[in-house]
Amino acid sequence: MIKVAPSILSADYVNLQRDIEKVEKGGAEYLHIDIMDGMFVPAISYGPNWVKAIRPISKMILDVHMMVQNPERYIDTFADAGADLIGIHVESTPHIHRALQMIKNRDIKAEVVINPGTPVEAIKPVLYMVDQVLVMTVNPGFGGQKFIPETVKKIKQLNEIKKQAGYDFDIEIDGGVNDHTVKGAYEAGATVAVAGSYVFGADDPASKVQAIKDATK
Ligand code: DX5
Ligand code: ZN
Repeated sequence: MIKVAPSILSADYVNLQRDIEKVEKGGAEYLHIDIMDGMFVPAISYGPNWVKAIRPISKMILDVHMMVQNPERYIDTFADAGADLIGIHVESTPHIHRALQMIKNRDIKAEVVINPGTPVEAIKPVLYMVDQVLVMTVNPGFGGQKFIPETVKKIKQLNEIKKQAGYDFDIEIDGGVNDHTVKGAYEAGATVAVAGSYVFGADDPASKVQAIKDATK
């Protein structure tokens, strides 16, 4: 069964604690927090103070997805704020190895992220050092987009490398995930599913967390 990471990008910001409690009670293991800087992606979302505010109200793994140009500038800030995992895009820095090393130096989980247009080959040299790989299943920047089915081939390819080399990193998917799209990705090797609009757009977010899990039984 896949682990679920609801993305608060689609939550009700004035009732954030209520929404977070709903998905935690619904069995979500991770809480996905999208950081957008208006540079790497067009939108601006929220910053480290949100992670700091959420930390004391949840036991879920705080999964910080950095859609930020040169994210190494903010790794320590987000680690101090209480992130359990920081994900950085290979496209966002010329120093991906150093940036991942900075995350690992803080004794939290390090994740490398690839856009739909980036091949798996681009992250091969750093796979030995990561705890999780995020294969974007939409182009980053906005919630509510359509799942790109071609990305499933990359999940499969990554899973092959993982098995052959004996790595144990998790494979996360993000974008357009629902109880249908998650199936093929899970079969290809995905172990963690981010879902924003599908979960928080529903009257009962907990039931949608469960629906994603049920689809991968
Ligand atoms: C998109 C973000 C996602 C977003 C997913 O750039 O990285 O985490 O919240 O939203 P949905 O699940 O609505 O596609
Ligand atoms: Zn995300």
